[in-house]
Amino acid sequence: MKGIILAGGKGTRLFPLTKNTNKHLLPVGKEPMIYNPIKQLIASDIRDIMIITSRENMGDVVNVLGSGEEFGCDFTFKVQEKPRGIANALSLAENFAAGHLITVILGDNIVTRSIRPYIDKFKKQKIGAKVLLKEVLNPHHFGIAILDEKKLISIEEKPTLPRSNYAVTGIYMYDNNVFDIIRSIPTSPKGEYEITSANNVYIDKGKLTYDILDGEWTDAGTIESYRIANDMLYKINNQIIDGDYDEYSI
Ligand code: TTP
Repeated sequence: MKGIILAGGKGTRLFPLTKNTNKHLLPVGKEPMIYNPIKQLIASDIRDIMIITSRENMGDVVNVLGSGEEFGCDFTFKVQEKPRGIANALSLAENFAAGHLITVILGDNIVTRSIRPYIDKFKKQKIGAKVLLKEVLNPHHFGIAILDEKKLISIEEKPTLPRSNYAVTGIYMYDNNVFDIIRSIPTSPKGEYEITSANNVYIDKGKLTYDILDGEWTDAGTIESYRIANDMLYKINNQIIDGDYDEYSI
């Protein structure tokens, strides 16, 4: 299993905090935001990690993270020339991922409990994809999972009339088919390649599983959610709490 952290984008909703630096380097709790997804991967025993960010911010990101030596992992860096969407950023990891399952985390997603149980489950699943869901109060801001009984039947991107409160978090697991799938999806009206489109292809093929994420989760991409993320990580001193593994055995 390899890890990929997507840390490109523009960070416009955090402007002017992001005027002179990358969103993922802003402090959350006592550490830069991107430390949380890095620690999640390492706590899941994933030590080969690609970081994808914009050309403008790559220098800063490398300065902060280095080779990975101080984290006990190995970083590979890749430039996304233009913020053409999450699926476009992920497509850049194709060669890095070849022959491996991957866990992809959006660099602004903050989680308090270890995601290792879900990753262990996906390793046993071996093919297809897995997403992690979390119940939210403001579903129209997220990709929302439409569930029929317990079956995930589709994901709707930022619906005006949400049909559930289960947001698809920015933590995804894929087999190598994801790269062919991304090549097959159209761009959104915003001109971006949406990860939701790729996930819906996996659903149509009957190859997408999900779990409900334990513990607290937020993205940190708006002023309000950035404040929530800070509170979450201050409380736990930026440590990731181990989940209950037995509960997740297949
Ligand atoms: P978003 O929050 O959707 O976009 P953004 O980071 O550009 O912020 P804003 O909308 O305020 O301008 O992105 C979610 C995550 O995905 C974020 O952590 C960065 C990553 N991302 C990329 O790596 N490349 C991209 O092209 C986009 C759009 C996002």
